[in-house]
Amino acid sequence: MPRFVIRGGSKIEGEIRVSGAKNAALKVFPVSILTDETIRVAPVPDIEDCACAKEVLLAIGGKVSEGEKGALELQSRAPLRTVKLPEKLVSKFRASIMFVGPILARFHEVEFPHPGGCVIGAAERPIDMFLDGFARLGAKTTVRNGYYRITAKKLKGNTIFFPKVTVTGTESMMTTAVLAEGVTVLKNAAMEPEIPALAEFLNRLGARIKGAGTPTITIDGVKKLGGGEYAVIPDRIEAGTFAVLAAASQSGEVIIRNVIPGHLEALWAMFDRTGVNYRLEKHAVIVRPSRRLSAADVVTHEYPGFATDLQPPYTVLMTQARGISLIHETIFDRRLLFTDILSQMGAKIIMADPHRIVVNGPSRLEGKKIISPDLRAGIALVIASLIAEGNSEIENIYQIDRGYERLDERLRGIGADIARVDGE
Ligand code: EPU
Repeated sequence: MPRFVIRGGSKIEGEIRVSGAKNAALKVFPVSILTDETIRVAPVPDIEDCACAKEVLLAIGGKVSEGEKGALELQSRAPLRTVKLPEKLVSKFRASIMFVGPILARFHEVEFPHPGGCVIGAAERPIDMFLDGFARLGAKTTVRNGYYRITAKKLKGNTIFFPKVTVTGTESMMTTAVLAEGVTVLKNAAMEPEIPALAEFLNRLGARIKGAGTPTITIDGVKKLGGGEYAVIPDRIEAGTFAVLAAASQSGEVIIRNVIPGHLEALWAMFDRTGVNYRLEKHAVIVRPSRRLSAADVVTHEYPGFATDLQPPYTVLMTQARGISLIHETIFDRRLLFTDILSQMGAKIIMADPHRIVVNGPSRLEGKKIISPDLRAGIALVIASLIAEGNSEIENIYQIDRGYERLDERLRGIGADIARVDGE
């Protein structure tokens, strides 16, 4: 199994380019099931989760052809080979749930096991809001031999109120209701930038969606969708992660390109409060060493609040800031467990409860042997290792490869001493 070997303390400086957003690109594979025609999408990041989404599409009978620079052509001509999603793939990534709605909408039945992915939410990340939403659109769910089976001769528009804001739940209902009869209204919908991006794309295919990016989305169902192109937005989480790495390393100037600064306002607000020396340009952010980093509390929140996906890197930043910060994780209850590893590296962290930790900084971190628990914790531990004294080894980097394209190679481009090592 490959692992990262990192020597901490090297000067981080130079330019790095952000990839296409994982959580935008992933959703285009299931959308292709809504139409017979060809979908062109670029740039699709070369990461494990997108490879899995491609495998799912191929397994059920879709076609994928690869062009240059992460361009893909997707096609799902009726009938599909099967409406049953393969357990081996579905267990690997949570976003596989996104295939359910489009298969149901176009082929009236779908079967799938409980989706897998990062172990960050309640015991098994629940899918109750998906099942409730499909029921509101007129579908019936039964469970047999570990598989959900959802059927609907005809989907009918309805009002769906989400008791909790859910990103893929919102996207799923949007990509199901597009082919339902009549009008669907989604209330308390998520507003993450990937959602209006998806809605604009669906509208280009012929859908009639209004209000995406606000808490109320209206979808006026259509009979069929056509083909079209999707330009994947830059990955705001990757951009924020690189910015935090630059801020935490305090060594040189880092220019991060292909950024939409407006997608990261909550992070910039925290940079202002903690004294990070940064400058925003139209499509870039430049981070320089700061005179002094001060601790500041953070609470994760749905967009436009502070993203839960940036909480682990921010926590590492706080280990380098002067003072005490309270990190309050409100979205996923296992996302603070990795801080135990930061403590072993020398950080002064007290866990108040599963949702809150107190960080007392600054502390000198020391390299360690680490097993990456999940994607975002994994990248945070890469940052911690890069700023630590001595060497670190990170195992289970499959979890990191799920979301960051050629991470080691790109980080070496800004001076990081990181190698991917296979075998003993
Ligand atoms: N939830 C339920 N029931 C449901 C669905 C969700 O209780 O049926 C709960 C979750 O357990 C969680 C909360 O609702 O406590 C919010 O979860 P949400 O549904 O918004 O998360 P998601 O859609 O599964 C997406 C991203 C995550 C990102 C979250 C929050 C994708 C593929 N994933 O997940 O990304 O953290 O929104 O912004 O878009 C990542 O990239 O590392 C990642 C985990």
